[in-house]
Amino acid sequence: MGSSRIAFDPWEGSYAPRMEHLRRSAVRDLFAAISRPDVIGLSGGSPDISSLPLDEVSEMAARAIREEGVKALQYGGSEGRVEMRETVCRLLAEDGIDVTPDDLILTAGSQQALDFLGRMFVSPGDVVLCEGPTYLGALQALSAYEPRIVCVEMDEDGMVPEALEERLRELGPRGAKLIYTIPNFQNPTGATLSLERRRRIVELARAYEVPLVEDDPYGRLRYEGEHVPPMRSMDDGVIYLGTTSKIFAPGLRLAWMVAPRPVLARANLCLQGAGLCVSALSQVMAERYFREVDWRSVMERTRAVYRERRDAMLDALARTFGPEVRWTWPKGGFFVWLTLPPYFDTDQILSHALRRGVAYVPGTNCYPDERGASSMRIAFCYETPERIREAIARLADVVSDRMGLYRAFMAAGALPEEPARATRQLGEHYPSPFATEGK
Ligand SMILES: Cc1ncc(COP(=O)(O)O)c(C=O)c1O
Repeated sequence: MGSSRIAFDPWEGSYAPRMEHLRRSAVRDLFAAISRPDVIGLSGGSPDISSLPLDEVSEMAARAIREEGVKALQYGGSEGRVEMRETVCRLLAEDGIDVTPDDLILTAGSQQALDFLGRMFVSPGDVVLCEGPTYLGALQALSAYEPRIVCVEMDEDGMVPEALEERLRELGPRGAKLIYTIPNFQNPTGATLSLERRRRIVELARAYEVPLVEDDPYGRLRYEGEHVPPMRSMDDGVIYLGTTSKIFAPGLRLAWMVAPRPVLARANLCLQGAGLCVSALSQVMAERYFREVDWRSVMERTRAVYRERRDAMLDALARTFGPEVRWTWPKGGFFVWLTLPPYFDTDQILSHALRRGVAYVPGTNCYPDERGASSMRIAFCYETPERIREAIARLADVVSDRMGLYRAFMAAGALPEEPARATRQLGEHYPSPFATEGK
């Protein structure tokens, strides 16, 4: 965004070449826009933490400092407090992941763990395999290490193992440095990897000797259907990322990486360099939250809130758009992936949408290349059902203006002037393959 550009930089030419590769985050860029009261924010993935019992949490925090004393405010070991790691083990056991505190390290958010994975495994030009589209924060974290990110085809059941196998076969054993996947309610599509595919992907990662990263911030945010066991419960070699961000509060910046011990030893070195250790105060807060607060009831209430918002969004989409617009139907998490006809460029119409009072993430942010130009990520986690309905109506206005223009040009025998990218999309025809037509 223009406002954050630096007009004159005395160190131009002095920065390390890697800075050229860093990506911006559309979500971060849109933070200022969505703080305007007239803009309804469907762009961010911030959890709604208004159901947190703040009185109880603040009493708990005061008790923690009183009882833990200076330990809550001191530096700590870089792998994290054993008490917090035990707390994580108890949470993981509920998911069939049987580990001890020595099998994990705490990080400042799973975002930091993604950066460490890049630092540990990726040199310039190395291949990282992931779903297409994928989490824009992962693209951002990895970009500093200059990987060649290759998107593997996905559908409503997540990454397609046959497509993954094809890529792995082309690259050969150890030919890719990482397979990165978000198995539950994927960011940005909401898709969930089926049990059968999880088993197959675990087998493939093992057969081709590629570390498999399972990033799972949304697993406990299911609104319908059956829980699917994590891949880490099927294979001890899987690198599993979990976080307090969506089940307690993202402000703690507290997450965990479960991994084979040699990987953890290296992650520990990364952590020492990046931040010495994770905040002791955050750990103490989280330990107590999961022990002293009825957090399951809080989660139950929060899930009901998210479910209602998801339903409001899906209902509004179904009432508003015709069959030329497609979108996903997530069973949990925060996101819907919406795909417009291929002549749309969602980057280009974002400014119109912001003027009309609605923000979303343009689809190109979720790909390492220029794909996704006619798609967008819309989040239902943060706004009320009423505002979500209003946001979809505003979005529909922007879309129908553009469609009207396109049809008028078509009727007159002349295509409107389109950016090269969108024109390429016409031939490429990349509709979201798992979109449900106009449902
Ligand atoms: C798939 C995915 N991974 C990681 C993160 C980062 O989470 P954290 O707050 O733990 O850094 C997010 C946040 O939205 C996410 O969606």
